[in-house]
Amino acid sequence: MLKTRMTELMGIKYPIIQGGMGWLGLAELVAAVSNAGGLGVLGSATHPDPEDLREEIRKVKKLTDKPFGVNIVMLPAIRELPNDGFVQVICEEGVPVVETAAGKPGKYIDALKRANVKIMHKVGSVQHARNAQKLGYDAVEVVGFESAGFPLPDDVTMWNLIPRIVDAVDIPVSAAGGTTDYRQLTAALALGADSVTCGTVFMATKECAAHSNLKQRLVEANEYDTVMIQRTINNQTRVFKNELALKVLEMEARKAPFEELVTMISGERGRRVYFEGDVDYGTISCGQGVGLIKDIPTVKEVIDRMVAGAEKLLKRLSS
Ligand SMILES: Cc1cc2nc3c(=O)[nH]c(=O)nc-3n(C[C@H](O)[C@H](O)[C@H](O)COP(=O)(O)O)c2cc1C
Repeated sequence: MLKTRMTELMGIKYPIIQGGMGWLGLAELVAAVSNAGGLGVLGSATHPDPEDLREEIRKVKKLTDKPFGVNIVMLPAIRELPNDGFVQVICEEGVPVVETAAGKPGKYIDALKRANVKIMHKVGSVQHARNAQKLGYDAVEVVGFESAGFPLPDDVTMWNLIPRIVDAVDIPVSAAGGTTDYRQLTAALALGADSVTCGTVFMATKECAAHSNLKQRLVEANEYDTVMIQRTINNQTRVFKNELALKVLEMEARKAPFEELVTMISGERGRRVYFEGDVDYGTISCGQGVGLIKDIPTVKEVIDRMVAGAEKLLKRLSS
């Protein structure tokens, strides 16, 4: 019932993608998503070098024989990412899918296509979606106001962005943001999307490597518990409203020097946040869908609940 152009393209059972996640998009989580019928995507940005990523890719291959992907972040970063090496390893290891975000989306297309990798790009506007299609991407993922990650500064919501982009391109479209349960999955499909791409909901699963302190905070949070930071440096990102995020907002309001800000927003703080459970120490990507997280299930439970709920809802709506 939930067959879409995206399930066909990616060779997956259900139209649910776990978007790449810095620090947390590790083999166990990725394989659990793919084994449950979705598409798991490894993060690359927090791997120190291409060989480290290769090891993680091999771990995934040991844990699943289903399709999976790797995320490549092309944003300007404090630490220059070894993306050329990451892409080389991806091609050598025969990774089925690559998800790119930001930057110059054309850079690796030829190499990835030569290696038969399916490619999808995160987009925040109609113009970016059309450009990705023209460049030869196989699919796009729509990032809107409520999404974790890097929505554009124009604050357009998924409710409007999904149908606009669905109308603008012919390739499959995934709704990448704000989806936690079956009602949002159904709504995304009704708006014309071919799948959803989720991050926040997978942070609060048993297979995610995040510290239990963070998972508990996500369960307790509601839809007011995220904020957009880094607007003043043209790098806006939606994060969990913890002490650090509020401090960053205060620094931005008083126009603190960039050098001071950088020490607060550095991704290097992630290790302590995610693995030692010091939840207020660093920034944590988080979407507004966090308000619907009520427990810490397995990945399979998350996906089964979404699929069963959506199928039931679609039946009810069509009767
Ligand atoms: C903890 C975390 C880390 C993330 N890291 C990345 C990343 O490294 N690269 C990327 O393209 N997107 C990243 N994202 C965004 C996700 O891939 C996905 O697009 C987003 O989470 C979907 O929105 P949602 O969280 O509202 O479901 C991250 C999201 C989370 C929650």
